[in-house]
Amino acid sequence: MPEFIDLHCHWVADIDDGVRTVQEGVELLQGLRKIGFAKVIATPHMRPGLFDNDRASIQAAYQRMRVALEGVPDLPAMDLSSEHYFDDVVFSRLMGGEALPYPGGRAVLVEFHGHNMPARVADRFFDLRRKGLRPVLAHPERYSPVWKRPEMMEEYVDRGTVLLLDVAALAGKYGRATRKCAEQLAEAGLYYAACSDAHRPKDVGDVAEGIANLKRMVGTEEAEFLLIDGPKAVLEGKVDL
Ligand SMILES: [Fe+2]
Repeated sequence: MPEFIDLHCHWVADIDDGVRTVQEGVELLQGLRKIGFAKVIATPHMRPGLFDNDRASIQAAYQRMRVALEGVPDLPAMDLSSEHYFDDVVFSRLMGGEALPYPGGRAVLVEFHGHNMPARVADRFFDLRRKGLRPVLAHPERYSPVWKRPEMMEEYVDRGTVLLLDVAALAGKYGRATRKCAEQLAEAGLYYAACSDAHRPKDVGDVAEGIANLKRMVGTEEAEFLLIDGPKAVLEGKVDL
């Protein structure tokens, strides 16, 4: 059994657009365990105006979930972080130490608006790195500016950003443009890690299909790097881009 590490998943109930109930969370976690994930980090959204969570509310929801999961069999190891929407409010929380970087505090998951890259993103990522936080960009394949110019992601990688593939994109979960972009970025070797970004138990099927397609495309060794060694290096602060 492989020991995949999932850096991005919405298994905490009733806090955003992730699972709605504890039972759904259980099914999602057990499903991911079944297809090879040994560890699944919860990343509830922190997105002002849409998902008005802050660090305290996310930690409280996670604790409630952990209590509810006590004694449940066949679960992967679990931990907590957040998916940080990269606006001014969340950026200042990140800089002020009021956000939820990955366990160990060496990297942080960020997402952008679907159609606009944020202003001064290079400067802001540089500021994060100076604080010892490596930016991990969620699903770059889903942003329409990247569809038009996938090569723009080379600059992000050169500046030290980890590109995190949502592997379900390779199963067509988000449509053709996203799938094509994911294939281009994967073929260019720009991803450093891959995740599920699963929101429901039914998403596990797309994740499994995406992993199979990833293996076909880049080979088993590289696919396992993206699902095991890359995520491990992110958590340990040992990323080598
Ligand atoms: Fe997500």
